[in-house]
Amino acid sequence: MAQAIRRIGVLTGGGDCAGLNAVIRAVTKSAIFQHGLEVYGIEDGFLGLVQNRIRPLGPDDVSGILTQGGTILGSSNKCDPSQYATRNRDGKIEKRDVTNRCLDHIDHHRLDALVVIGGDGTMSGAANFVHHGINCVGVPKTIDNDLYGTDVTFGFATACHVATSALDRIRTTAASHHRAMVVELMGRNAGWIALHSGIASGADIILIPEIPFDIEEVCERLQHRHRRGAGFSIVVVAEGARPSDGSLSVSSGDADEFGHVQLGGVGNLVTAEIEQRTGYETRVTILCHVLRGGTPTAFDRVLATRFGIEAIDAAHEGDFAKMVALSGGEIVRVPIEDGVSELKTVDPGLFDVAGVFFG
Ligand code: F6P
Repeated sequence: MAQAIRRIGVLTGGGDCAGLNAVIRAVTKSAIFQHGLEVYGIEDGFLGLVQNRIRPLGPDDVSGILTQGGTILGSSNKCDPSQYATRNRDGKIEKRDVTNRCLDHIDHHRLDALVVIGGDGTMSGAANFVHHGINCVGVPKTIDNDLYGTDVTFGFATACHVATSALDRIRTTAASHHRAMVVELMGRNAGWIALHSGIASGADIILIPEIPFDIEEVCERLQHRHRRGAGFSIVVVAEGARPSDGSLSVSSGDADEFGHVQLGGVGNLVTAEIEQRTGYETRVTILCHVLRGGTPTAFDRVLATRFGIEAIDAAHEGDFAKMVALSGGEIVRVPIEDGVSELKTVDPGLFDVAGVFFG
């Protein structure tokens, strides 16, 4: 028989996305109203656990946040307590394991369990706490939709919706000016957003991290379209898309002092190459963080709410070291390690669907 829990902590880690507040609300209301638990919010992801920034959350704190983007708790994608980066006296970065400090803070606030909402980095952090004997339940989020173990993460549908509506708008101005328009979207290691919004908006070329592209081939396709009479073209490029060897040199920026590599720039390069190689007037739009902000779609609100309630049910039942997930329409629980066991790259069948329309 699992030991009854009385108090839970909740945190949001990694890059934010639409739907995080919907989970926080569902977790808090379900814990308090359904199970009589107390809820504590941990600020800025694992950073708040390291720095002991932990505060009580009540129903009033989460009232009205269902529709809000961002996270009322704040987030950080630069804090791994097992490799906590600080500057020493010489200004150099030093990394050390401060997991024990977090354990002290968990103990101090008498948190019996943690609900950890995040992507692969955050799930890896949760797995570390599980190994140190902390009761954790994971809730998967990322706009990139690249978390293994769940059919889909919340935030993805909203990102696709925003990208698609932007692409629809770009199409009309592209047509008016007879231009090639390049649109860079997020998608670090997987091209789910580019593929979905590209198909949804009828893009002419979609470049994703999973399939290295040849810039010469991209230009030939555009020229083929124009020879057939198309007066404009839309090229969607995921931020993590890479050219096949030697065709174009893309620098993605170095890792910062915390090991975080900032992507971006491939859209500019592709744009310059298209204009130079084809002579078509070409413009670039970089959407990226726009996809993470703002109000969640109805689908993401519902998914986030279902995830939050399931996470509290799991905690109440003592079913720890699990990540809630969507599988074939059902909410299920999978081992937390499943979320980070491998990367969920795009479905090749979906890429074939897109290819039908490339001409
Ligand atoms: O959350 C994932 C993600 O949106 C990636 O697609 C992107 O590369 C990254 O976050 C950007 O992070 P930051 O906000 O730190 O630039």
